[in-house]
Amino acid sequence: MAGVEQKKIMLSIKGLKKRFGDNIVLKGFDMFLEEGENLVIMGKSGSGKSVMIKCLMGLMQPDSGSIEIMDKNVLELEHAEFDQLRKKIGFLFQGSALYDSMTVQENLEFPLRKQNMPQKEKDVLVQEALESVGLLDAIDLMPNELSGGMKRRIALARAIILHPKIIIYDEPTTGLDPITAKEIIQLMRDIQMKYGSSALIITHDVDCSRVIADRMILLIDGVNYVEGSFSELSNSKDDKIQAFFK
Ligand SMILES: Nc1ncnc2c1ncn2[C@@H]1O[C@H](COP(=O)(O)OP(=O)(O)OP(=O)(O)O)[C@@H](O)[C@H]1O
Ligand SMILES: [Mg+2]
Repeated sequence: MAGVEQKKIMLSIKGLKKRFGDNIVLKGFDMFLEEGENLVIMGKSGSGKSVMIKCLMGLMQPDSGSIEIMDKNVLELEHAEFDQLRKKIGFLFQGSALYDSMTVQENLEFPLRKQNMPQKEKDVLVQEALESVGLLDAIDLMPNELSGGMKRRIALARAIILHPKIIIYDEPTTGLDPITAKEIIQLMRDIQMKYGSSALIITHDVDCSRVIADRMILLIDGVNYVEGSFSELSNSKDDKIQAFFK
């Protein structure tokens, strides 16, 4: 249609179901992520956020449903193909998850280990990623020499080292003081501007959602219970929705 810009869908999940014995966790979860957007998914503890991400990343097999990442049906991909696709996705693990016995440089090089790439090129990528998070000076430090906020920045640098099209953030601000959390959120925005990436953000942090969400989905009772902007959802009269914003 003339004048209507169709945004590309980077990732979509349809009818995702997953149960563990009697515990039915996902009952037909649907979502899509548009190019360039920041989509926040909130759900209470145990609602199935990590299960959903594990299915998305091929670490867990769903019972049914479909998952497409950049137009590829991930449930039908061969290992090698999935590995290729995974390189286009940056993942910020909950709590940073740096390797304690490796320097910052070695931690950042970890996602590059399977790349057939000269060391010089790796050095350039490491330096660029560290510059993006403002921590080039920390290149030779060990994780135990970093503050919590610095660790999160380094983890973020590791997530973006291959210039991913999609970044998945699992609780990016949890465990940080409010000021450091704000800095991380600003950095997430800077990275989106710099790389034009799309982000899927799992968080409980209302302040983080308010600042970063272009759109939000609440995962309740195994389904995408509601979807909307922060102000639409935070002004909802529905008790189940309100509970997230108290
Ligand atoms: N491998 C597994 N085997 C059995 N049950 C599992 C497994 N993984 C997750 N579950 C169950 O699935 C449900 C959802 O777990 P999940 O880790 O996805 O929650 P979550 O929304 O990520 O919670 P949190 O906010 O605490 O991280 C829980 O009831 C959990 O016990
Ligand atoms: Mg989880």
